[in-house]
Amino acid sequence: MKQKLILIDDEPKAGRLMERYLEDAYECHIFQDPLLAMDYFNQYGADLVITDMQMPNLTGAEVLAQIRARDKQIPVIVITAYSNVDNAIEVLRLGATDFVKKPFDIEELKIIIDKALNVSRIKAENQRLKQRLKAQQDQDERYKMIGTGGNMQKVYDIIAKIADIRCNVIIEGESGTGKELVARAIHFQSKSAQNPFIVIDCGALTDSLLQSELFGYEKGAFTGANKQKKGLLETASGGTLFLDEICNISDNMQTKLLRVVQEQQITRVGGLEAIDIDVRFVVATNQPMDKMVQEGRFRHDLYHRLNVINIQVPPLRSRLEDIPLLTEALVQRFANKYHRNIKGFDPQSSQLLMTYHWPGNVRELSNIIERAVALSDSEMLHLEEIPVSVSAPGQSCSDQIDVDQPTLSELEKRYILKLLNANNDNREQTAAILGINKSTLWRKLKDYQV
Ligand SMILES: Nc1ncnc2c1ncn2[C@@H]1O[C@H](COP(=O)(O)OP(=O)(O)OP(=O)(O)O)[C@@H](O)[C@H]1O
Ligand SMILES: [Mg+2]
Repeated sequence: MKQKLILIDDEPKAGRLMERYLEDAYECHIFQDPLLAMDYFNQYGADLVITDMQMPNLTGAEVLAQIRARDKQIPVIVITAYSNVDNAIEVLRLGATDFVKKPFDIEELKIIIDKALNVSRIKAENQRLKQRLKAQQDQDERYKMIGTGGNMQKVYDIIAKIADIRCNVIIEGESGTGKELVARAIHFQSKSAQNPFIVIDCGALTDSLLQSELFGYEKGAFTGANKQKKGLLETASGGTLFLDEICNISDNMQTKLLRVVQEQQITRVGGLEAIDIDVRFVVATNQPMDKMVQEGRFRHDLYHRLNVINIQVPPLRSRLEDIPLLTEALVQRFANKYHRNIKGFDPQSSQLLMTYHWPGNVRELSNIIERAVALSDSEMLHLEEIPVSVSAPGQSCSDQIDVDQPTLSELEKRYILKLLNANNDNREQTAAILGINKSTLWRKLKDYQV
C-alpha cells in the first residue's frame, strides 16, 4: 500500500509539479488552502505532510504547530522561499522534520521524503517493540513463579529441560498450586514462545461446545454456524494448547483427542478436509491420572500419549518455607493494584500464615492477601484482616463446615475457646492473638457463659 502525503502550497503550479513527480510512489493529496488541508488531516491523517511557508489563511509555521499539537511523530517538511538560515532554523525548532528551499529540485525533495518516511517507520517500529517488551515484562511479572521449597526446584529443573523439545506434558497437583503457571513457563521458556499459548478449560464446556471450540466448524455445520470458524487446535498450531481440567472430558472427546494427538491432524465440524497442525499438548488435572486410567475413566492410550513428561506440583503445605516470599510478592502486587502503601503483615499474622495448612494452596493465600490489602487502612496488615478460617491452626475450616455447618458466631466461640485452651487460659495473650482488646474478650466469654 502506498504511503499517504498531504501537499500544501497556495501556488497551483507547485502543487501540480509535486503531484506529477510523486504520485507514482505515493498517494498524494494536494491542497492550495491550508485550512482545507488541516480539515483533511484532522479527519483522515497522513504519513507525511509537506507545506509551503507563505500562504494566505495559515502560515507554514501555523500548519506545523497545529499538526504537532495532535501528533508528535508524523514527519512534516517545510518549503521556504527564503534561503534564509534563521527562517530554516526556526521551523526546525518548531518541530519540522526537515526543510527545502525554493525553488526546489524535485529529486532532492523525493530523497528528503523517503528519508523522513524511513526514519518515521523505524521510530514507530521501535515504539511497537518497546510496548511489546513492556507487555511481556508485565506478563512475566504476573506469571513469575515464586519459591523453591518442597519439590519446586525439581519442577523448575524439569521445565528448563523440556521447554524446548515440544513433548507433551501432564501437570498434576491440587487446585490452586500453580499448574497453569507451570504450563505458561513451559511455553514461554520454549523456542515457540512467540507462537500462541492457548488455554481451554475442559471442565467449563459441554461436549459439543468443547468440540466446536477445539476443532472449529464449517459454515452450515449446525444451526447457528453462519460462517466458518477456526478451532483452537488450528489457532494453537506452532505453539502450545493448555487443556485445563482434562480429567473432565467425555469418552467421546477422549477418542477425538487421541486421534489429534497421534496424527496432528484435524477436521473441522461439518468439514471433510484434514488439516495439518503442529501443537504441543500440555494438560493439567487435579486428580491423579494414573488412578483414573486404572479405574477405566480415562483412556490409557491417550494418557500414555500425553504423559511423556509428568510434573507434580507440590501443595503449599509441603513448602511452608515459601510463604514469606510469596506473601511479600503478593502484598506488593495487590498494594500496587489498589494503590496502597502497605509494608506487609505484622509478626503475629505472618506467624499465623505459616501455621495454616492451606487447602486452597497459593490461590487461597493470594485471595486472603488481596482481601487483607483491600480492607487495610494502615501500612501493616493485622490479624483482623485475615479470615477466621485461617486462624484455626492445623485444621481446615471448610472440612469443619462440611460436617456441621456452624453459624459464624458459633465458629467464633469455638475458635476463641480453642485459642484460650492452647494458651493455658492466658486471656491477655489470647486477646493479642485475636487482635482484640482484653475487655472485648472478657465480654465475649461472658456471652458464652464461660
Ligand atoms: N509459585 C507461585 N508463585 C506465585 N504465584 C503463584 C504460584 N503458584 C500459584 N500462584 C498463583 O496462585 C493462583 C493459582 O495458580 P494457578 O491458576 O496456576 O493454579 P492451578 O493449579 O491451575 O489451580 P486450579 O487447579 O484450581 O486450576 C494464581 O493467581 C497464580 O498466579
Ligand atoms: Mg488452573
